[in-house]
Amino acid sequence: MKIVGFFIVFVLPGSLGFSQSGTGSVIPTAESGTIHSIIWGLLGIAVVTLLVLGMRKFLLSKNRALAQESLRYREKNDELVQANERLNTIYGELQKAYQDFGELLERFESIVEVLSKVGNNELDEKSFFGLFLGAALKIIPIANYGTVSLIMDHEWRFIAVEGYDGERLMVLRLPEENIRHIYEVTVVDALYDRYERDIDESVRDPLKEAVKPFKQSLLTPFIVDGKFYGTMALDIARENEATFTDGMKKVMTAFSKIASAFLAFKRQSVSQGKFQKNIILSLVRALEYYDRYTRGHSERVARIASLLAEAAGLDRESIRKIYWASLVHDVGKIYVPQLILNKAGKLTEEEFEEIRKHPGKSYEIIKETEGMDEIAQMVRHHHERWDGTGYPDRFIAEEIPISSRIITIADAYDAMTSERPYRKSIRKASVIEEFRRTSGTQFDPRLTNLFIGIISRTDFQE
Ligand SMILES: [Fe+2]
Repeated sequence: MKIVGFFIVFVLPGSLGFSQSGTGSVIPTAESGTIHSIIWGLLGIAVVTLLVLGMRKFLLSKNRALAQESLRYREKNDELVQANERLNTIYGELQKAYQDFGELLERFESIVEVLSKVGNNELDEKSFFGLFLGAALKIIPIANYGTVSLIMDHEWRFIAVEGYDGERLMVLRLPEENIRHIYEVTVVDALYDRYERDIDESVRDPLKEAVKPFKQSLLTPFIVDGKFYGTMALDIARENEATFTDGMKKVMTAFSKIASAFLAFKRQSVSQGKFQKNIILSLVRALEYYDRYTRGHSERVARIASLLAEAAGLDRESIRKIYWASLVHDVGKIYVPQLILNKAGKLTEEEFEEIRKHPGKSYEIIKETEGMDEIAQMVRHHHERWDGTGYPDRFIAEEIPISSRIITIADAYDAMTSERPYRKSIRKASVIEEFRRTSGTQFDPRLTNLFIGIISRTDFQE
């Protein structure tokens, strides 16, 4: 602009005919007056044009700058919109994760609650399995209904129900053979539709009335020491689209271990509780007052039989039962006249006959206690012989329960090594000799071999 101004003021007038006097003043002529007017007019136009052009250029450059600025703002805005969208997505994901976490936490809490009850002696099976079923339905929320049924006295009983008519189901008694024993978590289709074929006529209708139609079941067995105790069934309603997945089977496989642990604990503590010290030891002690020669015998037999059972590779529960069975194996002697039991001389055949009744009597006493059937059986056969000539049932070889065969050996060992009215105890070498002689006739040969190994290494009388 400065260059344009210089051109207008100093260059243009000279070139268009302005002359300067010697004194320096400018004197116009008549002709030059018109020219001057034109020149000034042109100058005015040029100045205005230049000004307009300058303004235009200025405005254009400003406009460009504004357009660039606006573009930058738009880009920034787009970035902000995208960032906002990302934030919204992240927020949504966080919300979902939080919700999932909340559900997970709730499931986890229900599992922990069930777990915490496993060792609770006060809690009965019904309450425990109520909690267990509730937790299972939280873990597998696609299931609509659920039941827990256990085998009791060779019958199926429902002890926990969700979604069906619990009151009606819990009074039903299904024959044990109506329900398949399973040993792993299994998905079964259309069990409901197979009631006609699978369920006994006597209970079919009440069962159908108490449940609702379901299309698929996730069956979780309760197994303790390889034995089947019952099942939890989670069912999907017929109208529901969902189905059980392999992942759910795995979850239930792990979860079922809690129930098995509870059952193991409960069954053990029930048999222990009903059987334990107060009643049994007092019975044993009463017997020992009655028969002075058995004093301490039962406890020694229990200890020795446990060692042999362990050497034979039996599990802890079996060893525990053998211990208790050994403690009570002779309680039936309470029925044998005291004169016979404490007789110092040789017994007559009739007197032996009386003594032979004691395993049967022991069995009758013990089986009266609920949950003691197995121990009663062990006791009943502790005078059977491997060759089948023992009593009371003349069982032969492996017909005799292994636990009874173990007690027989421990019983005989203690009899040989204790003072009896009719003979003195015999020495270890003779005891081993006696077991070798009678192995395979009186005693199980495999157990006898194991036992000879034990007595060679141990002195029970120490
Ligand atoms: Fe006996």
